[in-house]
Amino acid sequence: MGCFSCCAADGDEIRNSLKKNKDNKTPTTLDSFVKNISFKSDASKHRLIAAELLKAGKGNIAAKTFTFKDLAAATKNFKPECLVGEGGFGRVYKGCIESINQVVAVKQLDRNGLQGNREFLVEVLMLSLLHHPNLVNLIGYCADGDQRILVYEYMPLGSLEDHLLDLPAEKKPLDWGTRMKIAQGAARGLEYLHDTANPPVIYRDFKASNILLDEDFNPKLSDFGLAKLGPTGDKSHVSTRVMGTYGYCAPEYALTGQLTTKSDVYSFGVVFLEIITGRRAIDTARPTNEQNLVTWAQPLFKDRRKFTLMADPLLEGNYPIKGLYQALAIAAMCLQEEASTRPLISDVVTALEYLAVPKTDEESSKNTSNCPSPDRNNDGDLEGDVRSQGNEDDEDEEQ
Ligand SMILES: Nc1ncnc2c1ncn2[C@@H]1O[C@H](COP(=O)(O)OP(=O)(O)OP(=O)(O)O)[C@@H](O)[C@H]1O
Ligand SMILES: [Mg+2]
Repeated sequence: MGCFSCCAADGDEIRNSLKKNKDNKTPTTLDSFVKNISFKSDASKHRLIAAELLKAGKGNIAAKTFTFKDLAAATKNFKPECLVGEGGFGRVYKGCIESINQVVAVKQLDRNGLQGNREFLVEVLMLSLLHHPNLVNLIGYCADGDQRILVYEYMPLGSLEDHLLDLPAEKKPLDWGTRMKIAQGAARGLEYLHDTANPPVIYRDFKASNILLDEDFNPKLSDFGLAKLGPTGDKSHVSTRVMGTYGYCAPEYALTGQLTTKSDVYSFGVVFLEIITGRRAIDTARPTNEQNLVTWAQPLFKDRRKFTLMADPLLEGNYPIKGLYQALAIAAMCLQEEASTRPLISDVVTALEYLAVPKTDEESSKNTSNCPSPDRNNDGDLEGDVRSQGNEDDEDEEQ
């Protein structure tokens, strides 16, 4: 939705350009930052969380602070016309901050007590420490009084969910190549969190609505409020309360609260299956046996004649059949019940690199299926790949 277009320039270096003004003290120390956003009753707990996170970085909170007045001006007083989305924790507005000449997304969290406060703190700290082309950039925040507002770079195409699931009739569905590009970029974002961040970060909320898209459909992960630092030392997992979104949670995490990077790999598998099928992880509007996407897909993974039935009907057969088989193989591997047998996200990135390469016209027309007859294809090795994921007798490969 167009709000107003006052800011042509973007990419300005805003880090550390902290300005002070009379009603806005810049929290440059950990103590003042935590104090600013904590209720009295949970301040010490928040200090622990913040100390743990800041130990992992250089102790800097790079995000800029804004006053409520700044953000009210940026969003024309949170005008309904500027509203671009609404999630479980609050509303998201498009705005423009004149002092930095930048179009932004302003997320005003509902004032829902302790949990919202904790997530706000984790989000600000995590996004201050983590920087990658496939993670959304946090420009700043406002913690005036009981306000909790996050200011992000504005992602003009919204979320993957907006382009994939329950599309209005007039909206053009994503083509196969764009779907693979989005999957690859999102996997790269996870790879950065798991393999480059030190200690590793478990994202915990990988889902279509948290994958935002820039003007070229490059994906960026958003919403780090649930993220956790991964296990350190000899520990294989972190134990935590089960959070996240039903339908995307790995089974072992949902059952025991034991969290590893493989829980994110499972959630990636669910989203990748949504990307391939155009179906929601949980869709109560479908017949009972189709409401849970993974439960619906598991028997189909074992029968190659059913593979083309899994492709999103909105693709109208315009996908490379070999690419579909490979994509389903990757999804099935990520969705294995046993966490240790799921691939590492770096392996997924490598596998997706091939799928996301744009094909020449000749190559794609050779491979594209407009005829739903999988028997036409004799790609035996790929069939084996997918089938083995559902076969309980197969030997598990320790990652
Ligand atoms: N940085 C951004 N740029 C542009 N649009 C955004 C941005 N952040 C969020 N949005 C839009 O706002 C919507 C709501 O986002 P939000 O993160 O609040 O909730 P959600 O992810 O949909 O749900 P949940 O609260 O369950 O996580 C998104 O789906 C997206 O369309
Ligand atoms: Mg979100």
